Amino acid sequence: MADSRETLTKKAFVTGYPVKHSRSPLIHGHWLKTLGIDGSYTAQEVAPENFPAFISALKEGTSGFRGGNVTIPHKEMAFALADEPDALASELGAANTLWLEEGRLKATNTDGMGFTANLDERHPGWDMTDCAVVLGAGGASRAILQALRNRGIGEIHVLNRTLDRARELADRFGDRIHAHSLEALPEVMKGAGLFVNTTSLGMDGSDVPDIDFSSMKTGAVATDIVYVPLMTPILAMAEAQGLAIVDGLGMLLYQAVPGFEKWFGRRPAVDETLRTLVIADM
Ligand code: ATR
Repeated sequence: MADSRETLTKKAFVTGYPVKHSRSPLIHGHWLKTLGIDGSYTAQEVAPENFPAFISALKEGTSGFRGGNVTIPHKEMAFALADEPDALASELGAANTLWLEEGRLKATNTDGMGFTANLDERHPGWDMTDCAVVLGAGGASRAILQALRNRGIGEIHVLNRTLDRARELADRFGDRIHAHSLEALPEVMKGAGLFVNTTSLGMDGSDVPDIDFSSMKTGAVATDIVYVPLMTPILAMAEAQGLAIVDGLGMLLYQAVPGFEKWFGRRPAVDETLRTLVIADM
């Protein structure tokens, strides 16, 4: 009798609650079409109380999925329920990519890789700095701090409205990460080579504080993980002060690549056609 795993169709999902805002079906649908793969990638809205049953059906093969992406609020539970989370997901305590392999549910977190791949593409050499400033200490910040540390950035300052959250991340990711409240921003910007915004500052009706980007080192770059709009208030402020800027759309696109490869067996391209397609959908 054929192994039930081999009979799985090429089906993958993105699950969240809510999930209808997700652009992942557009991205993966584009890749399936351009690569001529007979598969599907669909949004599955799953309430938190139903998530364990959703994962059980995935593991048992009864849902027919090979795996999928996981977004808010399921990333922590996805990590906890996976059979084999990798080192990245384990350190973060959160997974965004799941796949079945030899009957085991494997899990990783590709957010940090998406972040660095976007910078690598759009501003090569961005990592030639000893000092980075990261605004915000939520889930996205956590993955970015991990990626910056793993990339060998010397000192990383994480600033947050709620200082305790920044402290928790600094404790978790090692002694090169320093926690501050937002008031420390002018001081830590001096000589820094990379500025990262992971907050919704300026997007939620809040005022953006004046940030002096001119005190950063020559050639410094600013990036934002918010990508709607592509030009966020913080990026606009950085650009007006002469900084190089990188928008956050590429992080979304690159974080999707490893999952597609696992479920559908081909490496998809992150290119201008895909960027244009996602921008047109905003
Ligand atoms: P995500 O997973 O996208 O990072 P999150 O966990 O909700 O989302 O984190 C949002 C981040 O934006 C937090 O760092 C939050 O600060 P607090 O920890 O103090 O809540 C920050 N943030 C959101 N709105 C903000 C505002 N108006 N001013 C300053 N920081 C803000």
